[in-house]
Amino acid sequence: MDAGDPLAHFRERFHFPKTEQGQECIYLCGHSLGLQPKTSRSFVEQELTKWAELGVEGHFHGKNPWVPYHRLLTGQTAELVGAEPSEVVVMNSLTVNLHLMMASFYRPTTDRHKIVIEHRAFPSDQYAMASQIRFHRLNPSTSLIELTPRKGESCIRHEDIEALIEREGHSIALIMLGGVNYGTGQIFDMEAITRAGHRKGCIVGFDLAHAAGNIPLALHDWGPDFAVWCSYKYLNGGPGCVGGCFVHERHSRAWDLPRLAGWWGHEEKIRFQMGPEFQPMAGADGWQVSNLPILALAPLRASMEIFAEAGMERLRAKSTSLTGYMEYLLLQKASPESSIITPREEGRRGAQLSIRLTRRKRELCDRLAAEGVIGDWREPDIFRVAAVPLYNSYQDVYRFVERFEMALQ
Ligand SMILES: Cc1ncc(COP(=O)(O)O)c(C=O)c1O
Repeated sequence: MDAGDPLAHFRERFHFPKTEQGQECIYLCGHSLGLQPKTSRSFVEQELTKWAELGVEGHFHGKNPWVPYHRLLTGQTAELVGAEPSEVVVMNSLTVNLHLMMASFYRPTTDRHKIVIEHRAFPSDQYAMASQIRFHRLNPSTSLIELTPRKGESCIRHEDIEALIEREGHSIALIMLGGVNYGTGQIFDMEAITRAGHRKGCIVGFDLAHAAGNIPLALHDWGPDFAVWCSYKYLNGGPGCVGGCFVHERHSRAWDLPRLAGWWGHEEKIRFQMGPEFQPMAGADGWQVSNLPILALAPLRASMEIFAEAGMERLRAKSTSLTGYMEYLLLQKASPESSIITPREEGRRGAQLSIRLTRRKRELCDRLAAEGVIGDWREPDIFRVAAVPLYNSYQDVYRFVERFEMALQ
């Protein structure tokens, strides 16, 4: 399979962490922190050199001036999430963007004040939602609805999501789900959820931390009101890298929407006139607040270049095959101490498989890490691994399952 893999050569373009013995790790943790493209360094060095040579002039002069620097990423980002370029902006980090979006799009009223999140949404999202509810002097116990899996199941059924929206839609202000759940790896049907939510007059947003760069997205056509994501997982932008934000075109000139403003969202043609009145730019750009951390953006350019070359369609094809192979091997050697909680159908999952362990749990994850097999642990009982099509091989998957089974025994 590796010999026939048209994407196999991309592996060479990434740095792999090494064990103490100097061997390449079996790195299956791209769902948490993607590997470093070998070209990242030179992208950062270019900006350090520009800073050294031009100082403040680098904002407007030299190759790729800093003021419009984020625009270098707009086209590829829009392509990646299936949006118009005016609908996306690269800025801040995920939770910050979530708050900015909610400042505009969570406008609770007496009758319509609830937020729907998924059971075991990423904690940062839970904190953000609860704090936004309190910010509006409401109470999470009455304004936050958690979608839960049925008893004895790990994933949330789509029909239960639709049923909840149908039942409670009139009181729901915002449906805010992950595109792919961080714990189970389950993909939510974003198109159908958006349709169901809009039918009931709800705003719909998605956290795409585990979806961007993992699965194909068509945000413009699916039509959610907004989406946010980070760039350090499947997008390989580096730790804490700048995140992304989507605002649907229908809101691009919604000047009456309240927003938390800053000078970088101000109409750029007159930004440096330093006027006192905020005049937001059209599109997602109008939600920017601060000037951008160029040194954090630079490595993302390296990675997005590789993405554009590989193409999401080819990546997804390899991803389903790699993950299917991993599942096949794990099931062949099925142990009563481990079970896969990620959906079986390939259309309902991305690269990640979540394995529930009944014994030894974290100890097993630590032991594997000591042997150079890198997945990660999520309390209370989930070991997560992702075979990332840009840099993982079928051999990685094979060797992982071998080590995993040995560790279990
Ligand atoms: C699903 C999800 N949402 C939110 C976050 C938080 O991201 P940030 O620290 O960039 O705000 C993460 C981080 O891993 C995540 O996985």
